[in-house]
Amino acid sequence: MLRTGESVESIGQASCNRRWVRNTAWLGAAALLLLARGAISTASAQGPPPPPPPPANNISGFGMPFAELLQSQNAADLQLFANGQASFIQVEELPRVGPIFNSRSCGSCHFQPALGGSGAFINEVRVRNNTAGGPLHIFASDNMLRGGPQQQGPFTVFENGLTATPIGCQITSPRCAKSRCQREEMRRTTFSPRLPICDPTSPSFQAGANCVGERQSAPLFGLGLVEAVADADIEAIAAAQPVAIRGVAKQVNELGSTRVARFGWKADHATLRAFSGDAYLNEMGITNPDFSQERSTCALNVTKFGVLLDAGDDPEDAPGPDGRGDVDRFTDFMRALDAPPRIAENTSAQAGHSLFNSIGCGGCHTETLTTSANPAAFVPASTGGTPLTATMNALLTQRTFHPFSDFLVHDIGSLGDGITSDAAGPTMMRTTPLWGLRGKSVFLHDGRASELVDAIRLHAGQGGPAASAFRQLSPPQQRQVLDFLNTL
Ligand code: HEC
Ligand code: HEC
Repeated sequence: MLRTGESVESIGQASCNRRWVRNTAWLGAAALLLLARGAISTASAQGPPPPPPPPANNISGFGMPFAELLQSQNAADLQLFANGQASFIQVEELPRVGPIFNSRSCGSCHFQPALGGSGAFINEVRVRNNTAGGPLHIFASDNMLRGGPQQQGPFTVFENGLTATPIGCQITSPRCAKSRCQREEMRRTTFSPRLPICDPTSPSFQAGANCVGERQSAPLFGLGLVEAVADADIEAIAAAQPVAIRGVAKQVNELGSTRVARFGWKADHATLRAFSGDAYLNEMGITNPDFSQERSTCALNVTKFGVLLDAGDDPEDAPGPDGRGDVDRFTDFMRALDAPPRIAENTSAQAGHSLFNSIGCGGCHTETLTTSANPAAFVPASTGGTPLTATMNALLTQRTFHPFSDFLVHDIGSLGDGITSDAAGPTMMRTTPLWGLRGKSVFLHDGRASELVDAIRLHAGQGGPAASAFRQLSPPQQRQVLDFLNTL
């Protein structure tokens, strides 16, 4: 249960603006954060400041399904979207959630500027020397219930303790009195709350020192289109790139096939079904057909304050008669989410659009992609074997869209997160799609930039030449590029 009035604790070592936003408050929080993002700071950019910021962002239309679904002939697909959306915001309870987890609903991390978006706070931590796989899990079932029976005056009001929001104390906080499961998590992942942020170009990193990389959630708008691009088309983008900025089409073995990965900051998955299953296990601790093993047995058959923490009934999510489990419903929702709506380019943004290409940004941030002639040939069926509907397949076929990403991983030098994920080494990150940029309030994998100019300035490695070309633009030209980015 969500209860109002619970305290919101900031993540231990992170700066004060990175807060766990209470689940119930996501819409208000998103609106506030967007209002706060106005001026483009120039404090850390070189040269004289660009002229004043553009008018306030227009964020209407984010989080909508494809327009075709709102037409009557796609009523069944609209129903799948709506059911998926409801599952996406569902807050899960013990004993399903945990024993180790980061949050209790997909929507608690994907809400900005609308449901299915990103989040303005750090919600995942990766530990460099962790060979156990997956992110560090910040919470655990055995510190989810607060302090046993709760009294109010002479009355016992919560016999089994209180399910706190956020739950228990965060493993990342040095002051957190770690529970048994959290101590086990720290051992397994080699985490300590005092580990520094990885700098993959530093001598200590090269000497093998342990460190962490933090991750911001990523928006999900339009990802059904991204999933529907043929592997060969992503490989062709890499082949056509100049050697100096050529990216890598990362191969993964997923759901029985070798595929080109495209989702996640380091391109960890190729399909929305696999990402959903991974997130359900790693973010929420809920086992499912594709990810059926809990990461820990620390709370197996343990009862605390009258509540069974982990019933050992894996997989906890299983397909129903329609062939769909929760992971399939999340997938239905994401697959039908339309691309972020763009706003018309004024004269300044048009000039910025040309500059974006002429200084080399478009070399990696590929403007236009087209989905395959028959996505159903490789988009996986649900976990219960129900295929993509014919109408959804038709909708996703040969559709041209504008993500501003090649979905390849690039060597981005010191901006890398220091984590190795198969072919994506410590300095390699997937090109972030720039669509929907105006709906975000912090940028880059760990949200280190709260201004677009800083996000651009921090590009290194293969992105270094484009970043310095941006720096060499006159302040009015830099303004034009930013005006263009703010139409996306
Ligand atoms: C605790 C916060 C949190 C929760 C809960 C969460 N996510 Fe995420 N999500 C993230 C983070 C962080 C990333 C980026 C992870 C990465 O790439 O390493 C992400 C990335 C994604 C992506 C990839 C987006 C892209 O640009 O490629 C998908 C898809 C996704 N999440 C789906 C889900 C689904 C479905 C759920 C619910 C089962 C969920 N997430 C729950 C934090 C969360
Ligand atoms: C070599 C490929 C490459 C080039 C060239 C490049 N980028 Fe990027 N861009 C990336 C990668 C990779 C990331 C993700 C970095 C990270 O993980 O934090 C990124 C991230 C970004 C982000 C942050 C987006 C977000 O949502 O967090 C912005 C903004 C951006 N790039 C704009 C630009 C602009 C403007 C240019 C031209 C000056 C440019 N990029 C040139 C690869 C590139």
